[in-house]
Amino acid sequence: MENQTGKTVLITGASSGIGRELARLFAKDGYKLVVVGRNAEMLEQLAATHRNQYGTETTIIQKDLADTKAPEEIYAETHGKGIHVDVLVNDAGFGEYGQFATETDLQKELDVVQVNAVALMHLTKLYVKDMVSRNSGKILMLGSEVSVVPNPMMAVYGATKAFIKSFSEAIRNELQGTNVTVTVLMPGATNTNFFNAAGASHVKGADPAKTANPADVAKEGYDALMQGKDHVVAGWMNKVRVAAAHVLPDPLIAANTRSDMMPKNEADTKQKEQLTQLAIGVGVVAGVIAGLYFTYRQASPYDKMKYRYKAHKAGTSAKKALASTGNSIKDAYNKAKSVAEEQMT
Ligand SMILES: NC(=O)c1ccc[n+]([C@@H]2O[C@H](COP(=O)([O-])OP(=O)(O)OC[C@H]3O[C@@H](n4cnc5c(N)ncnc54)[C@H](OP(=O)(O)O)[C@@H]3O)[C@@H](O)[C@H]2O)c1
Repeated sequence: MENQTGKTVLITGASSGIGRELARLFAKDGYKLVVVGRNAEMLEQLAATHRNQYGTETTIIQKDLADTKAPEEIYAETHGKGIHVDVLVNDAGFGEYGQFATETDLQKELDVVQVNAVALMHLTKLYVKDMVSRNSGKILMLGSEVSVVPNPMMAVYGATKAFIKSFSEAIRNELQGTNVTVTVLMPGATNTNFFNAAGASHVKGADPAKTANPADVAKEGYDALMQGKDHVVAGWMNKVRVAAAHVLPDPLIAANTRSDMMPKNEADTKQKEQLTQLAIGVGVVAGVIAGLYFTYRQASPYDKMKYRYKAHKAGTSAKKALASTGNSIKDAYNKAKSVAEEQMT
């Protein structure tokens, strides 16, 4: 074992993918594990591997988080065994692929909400109270790039991830003044069983050549958690997409995500047109922001404060200009440029 923290981490979704990789990182650093999932065989295998490799002590709790009683039962079991959970990792989650209006299964979508959002909130409620009373603790939430990007063809899944980001940032703020931190890990498409479980392994975004390695994603989340950061977007390309999502109109961002969620080789003309607008839109916004940044760097501290306010306004105006012009990118560009120039004088 590399070191011995004597601390305990509880990880939901440790049987597979990103959760499995997170479990490995904690085991390597000497944490005791409490692992939760439905697949007891996979959890037994994980426990045996880490016992052999790092001498890790692992408690297995087999639970279906779609069962509304599961969080209370998990808490009762750890409490009954005298286990103090120092770190909570809410990783378990899944999606349901298809058109919400006509294709997806309502019961599966209700389970998506229960597992991804309700159980996550319920477990957090139970364990964060103990953390606050000990004035020590860390919580990692599995959000997603789609926490801030609309997710057509997995609409309910995307909405649960938006819930996670909003909920986490809010309680993080409430926990200021304690030594309890909340961190959201926001991966993009990652090479796990996720797309298969969602019935979406045939879509463009699931192409293994384009998806991230779960070990790399877990490492970014682990480091951010240990540093007490509020969130981390895994992967540089996803960082760009998330930054663009803060400035560009939602319909364009939704069209971009939709394209990734379509079967390979399938994208209709309207989608392509919207994607072209998105690409040019990213260029317009990047240009406006670069101009503002250049001026900002030359400014006095007082002017910097003024420019921060103006940059925000210019970004909002550029977004409106792009949204209102629809097909006329040239017009959008001119509007965004003149708005930015006006803000800077
Ligand atoms: N892969 C991606 O592209 C991607 C991108 C962004 C965010 N994420 C998020 O990352 C997290 C992990 O997903 P992954 O990519 O690692 O997928 P994965 O390999 O399918 O792992 C999902 C994990 O969630 C657990 N889980 C699912 N339903 C459960 C239930 N009803 N009760 C208990 N546990 C349940 C599974 O455990 P059992 O099967 O043992 O129950 C499994 O360990 C999820 O929250 C997902 O939304 C994934």
